Amino acid sequence: MVQAADPDQKYYDALDELSVLPLWRVEESNQARSPATIRPYVWRWADLHPRLMQTTEVVDLESGAERRVLTMQNPGVRPLAGATHTLTASLQLIMPGEIAPAHRHTMAAFRFIIEGQGGYTVVEGEKVPMSAGDLILTPNWTWHDHGNEGDQPMIWFDGLDVPFVRSLKACFYQDFPGRQAQPVKADYPESYERFGAPGLLPAKQRPSTLYSPLNLYKWEHAYEALQRLQAIERDEFDGTVLEYVHPLTGGHILPTMSCYLHGLTGGTHTRARRTTASSVIHVVRGAGYTVMEGQRFDWADRDIIAIPPWCWHEHVVAPDTDAIFFRVSDLPVLEPFGLVREEAYKPNDGHQPLDGAS
Ligand SMILES: [Fe+2]
Repeated sequence: MVQAADPDQKYYDALDELSVLPLWRVEESNQARSPATIRPYVWRWADLHPRLMQTTEVVDLESGAERRVLTMQNPGVRPLAGATHTLTASLQLIMPGEIAPAHRHTMAAFRFIIEGQGGYTVVEGEKVPMSAGDLILTPNWTWHDHGNEGDQPMIWFDGLDVPFVRSLKACFYQDFPGRQAQPVKADYPESYERFGAPGLLPAKQRPSTLYSPLNLYKWEHAYEALQRLQAIERDEFDGTVLEYVHPLTGGHILPTMSCYLHGLTGGTHTRARRTTASSVIHVVRGAGYTVMEGQRFDWADRDIIAIPPWCWHEHVVAPDTDAIFFRVSDLPVLEPFGLVREEAYKPNDGHQPLDGAS
């Protein structure tokens, strides 16, 4: 049977010619009534680490490539890169004696150091040493290069706001002239000397910057603060949480990303909730699983967990180990526009029924 032609088809064809859509015919999914297709996901260190080490055979920093980086690709963002729709999460390796030349970009970045000794990042001329557990910032449009003066591989977790900045078509990138390391102006972490003391600031010279003027947040302070807070406070959704903050404002460290340290004692089972902010977790240590949208995702030391926007999630820590999470969130880009929305899971004491294991 021949289907009757739509009598209004000429009208719709004319709209198409004008690059205009009749909104009443646009499918609901196209109108973004539900937040995303980003998938809950866990990348396992046991899978990633050997592949990262293999970059020493595949990538030649002397000619061509600038960085040994494996970046997480959420199945929901293919063919683009991104652990979520706003956040990039990567693992980077630099071998003894190597230099990753300086460049700068409008995408902000931070490094959370996983292992190694003797590595450093130079940020705008300030040489910042790397130790496991340290957080180092390289904000928007700051020159940065990396080196390794030690005798072991240096590995860290990179977090960037690339997908968010890309969506705004505001990506700019520049190599340092001569494709080399930038000159060092201070061979010590000057910003740490100035702003790194808890609760104390210089009486003078307080710059007004969008991003934190402190480039190094040391593990020893963060870990001690987490232990002290864990002794007196615990949140039923997140465990005990510290935020890394801009020392002059108490606000987020970067305008596009906020970073947190979570302490979850062995046997903890948090209550489920969902939020419009997406997150990526680097498991500093511990073992357990996270239930996301009813699916169980096991994790262990150094695994990477993507929590999409508006995804029910709850964490379960193995009884015999305490867990520590380093987490990055895109919360700062939602807040100015009134787009932060959260909901606690009410049924079953806040715990989702399990659909299956990943
Ligand atoms: Fe970079």
